[in-house]
Amino acid sequence: MPSYDVIIIGGGPGGYVCAIRCAQLGLKTACVEGRETLGGTCLNVGCIPSKALLHASHMLHEAEHNFTKMGLKGKSPSVDWKQMQTYKEDVVGQNTKGIEFLFKKNKVDWIKGWASIPAAGKVQVGDDIYDAKNIIIATGSEPTSLPGVEVDEKIVVTSTGALSLPKVPKKMVVIGAGVIGLEMGSVYARLGAEVTVVEFLDHITPGMDGEISKAFARSLKKQGLKFILGAAVQSVSTTKTKAKVSYKLRKNDTEAVLDADVVLVATGRKPFTDGLGLEALGVETSPRGQIRTNAQWATNVAGIYAIGDAIDGPMLAHKAEDEGMAVAEVLAGKAGHVNYGVIPGVVYTNPEVATVGQTEEQLKEAGRAYKVGKFSFMGNARAKAMFAGEGFVKILADQATDRILGAHILGPNAGEMIHEICVAMEFGASAQDIALTCHAHPTCSEAVREAALACGDGAIHA
Ligand code: NAI
Repeated sequence: MPSYDVIIIGGGPGGYVCAIRCAQLGLKTACVEGRETLGGTCLNVGCIPSKALLHASHMLHEAEHNFTKMGLKGKSPSVDWKQMQTYKEDVVGQNTKGIEFLFKKNKVDWIKGWASIPAAGKVQVGDDIYDAKNIIIATGSEPTSLPGVEVDEKIVVTSTGALSLPKVPKKMVVIGAGVIGLEMGSVYARLGAEVTVVEFLDHITPGMDGEISKAFARSLKKQGLKFILGAAVQSVSTTKTKAKVSYKLRKNDTEAVLDADVVLVATGRKPFTDGLGLEALGVETSPRGQIRTNAQWATNVAGIYAIGDAIDGPMLAHKAEDEGMAVAEVLAGKAGHVNYGVIPGVVYTNPEVATVGQTEEQLKEAGRAYKVGKFSFMGNARAKAMFAGEGFVKILADQATDRILGAHILGPNAGEMIHEICVAMEFGASAQDIALTCHAHPTCSEAVREAALACGDGAIHA
């Protein structure tokens, strides 16, 4: 068996990006992946297929609600679910093949199969044992289950099953108002399902800036999603074709039951490290199953590293990618670095939500003196022309220095717009730096500049 400088276990966004960077830096590299295709959860059953369905259902929404307003007449489209699934699979297929091509181009060997680590420096796949100077665990995460709730991926589904339902359900209950629940819930609501989201907390999207979270909830309600907040799901029972979801309201212990054709369980994910042999190796993990690493992604066992959803931090593909590139640089003798203070988070609904840095609640809790600059998309001509005047940009800056501490956007293309603030924050910019930067007119990004102006002498169009 060939021996390698680095073997990466897992071909998701963390692992494949890491493999390419290792190879680019001159390390002899292999990546072990057991799925039929590269790309991990994100490309196969996560970010990418869900974005295809979000795009298609948004187009339907536009046709149903806005076409006639713009003078576009004609029969509005109906849903051909089979074709929508084919489109989704095509998008996935193009991207997974793309990674295979990149592996060949960069001379990364793809070892097909499921890996274990019999000892430091050794990776076993089937009967084959490979030598590796360094091993990087990038095995990602899997959905958590809920006591009393059995997932069958038919009636009671995780995000994986939700992407490939045989038809659009009439009634869908979503357990958990986090990112997955809201993205998939809004897809099916737009496709005609009656969607009820049951959430344990008394607000949606835990951890998000409170003001944005409230406005986001209002927007989703307008789109037809129903929310039952402060409710703990007790159990889900199923027949052949239906489900009943029992929940208890936390404030008064009232119990109630919801009927559903499909139940989506979206209550979080946990590291997936089964079968690696971590316990026998003595690799330290946290009580939540996250592999413990130091600032250079090294575990307590020499030569074994870990990145992405398998370790601490937000479970986001781009965080895993950054760690993948950084650990490759560390192994190549360079200074790999990830700025965990500037990792954007995006919810790909419509409108989108994008956030970076600290929330107002976090700043208050830290006792930090800050100022807030806000600007509504109602004051942005481009957004209004697209019927997208809902939402706002909120920039939080240090009261004394004006340095940007966080930014939160609810609005059109928020996930694209957030990056100018990310770059600004990487450079330690002030709100005034953004305010003094010429922004093209008419663009939605002007709302970012206006929010930055609102941190100083005031926005122009407010
Ligand atoms: P999440 O952690 O975002 O949300 C889970 C929600 O379920 C929370 O609001 C929690 O309070 C609620 N919950 C937990 N137990 C409950 C119960 N018994 N009854 C009712 N509600 C309950 O988890 P989610 O949405 O499953 O996503 C998993 C991970 O995947 C997250 O870390 C997320 O960031 C990531 N992800 C990111 C995406 C993006 O960046 N666009 C897209 C999809 C997933």
